[in-house]
Amino acid sequence: MALQFRSLLFCVLLLLLGLALANTNAARTDPPVVCATLNRTDFDILFPGFTFGTGSASYQVEGAANEDGKGPSVWDTFTHDHPEKIDDGSNGDVAVDQYHRYKEDVAMMKDMGLDSYRFSISWSRILPKGTLSGGINKKGIEYYNNLTNELLRNGDTTTNLNPPNI
Ligand SMILES: *[C@@H]1O[C@H](CO)[C@@H](O)[C@H](O)[C@H]1NC(C)=O
Ligand SMILES: *[C@@H]1O[C@H](CO)[C@@H](O)[C@H](O)[C@H]1NC(C)=O
Repeated sequence: MALQFRSLLFCVLLLLLGLALANTNAARTDPPVVCATLNRTDFDILFPGFTFGTGSASYQVEGAANEDGKGPSVWDTFTHDHPEKIDDGSNGDVAVDQYHRYKEDVAMMKDMGLDSYRFSISWSRILPKGTLSGGINKKGIEYYNNLTNELLRNGDTTTNLNPPNI
């Protein structure tokens, strides 16, 4: 029931936004949107240039918690010291292993037709001791460089009208 209500609310919001943003002539001739089958094409019709993307938080996706010179983050320490505070006692030591599998992840995003990927940087991967004077972890920089290059390499095939971010 809650899910149905949320879907309905989403449809209403989407239609209102569509009406507000679409130019009046186009709105009169555009085919009606059937919310039950919403997909990427619908977004392209309603909002040409809409940036369709996904996002992640480093702790939730990277894994490689103790690899290549990374220092412990507050979450690493917390989940190891207090597994009882986490519902299933799990931690982000491996997560979805994006650190090692970023090429597969980018391929999936490309396959889904996404335009953008918002990711966060794990500062303890870049500054393992927590300060600049403690030293920069070159492997950490290399990882974000690799990830960014992989995103850019795959970005020019999207059909978005805006300069693609992925
Ligand atoms: C996506 O939506 C468009 C327009 O509503 C429709 O023509 C197309 O068949 C849909 N594709 C899929 C995979 O559902
Ligand atoms: C970055 O990419 C290079 C070239 O593919 C690879 O040799 C290296 O292991 C990668 N480093 C990281 C940290 O992902």
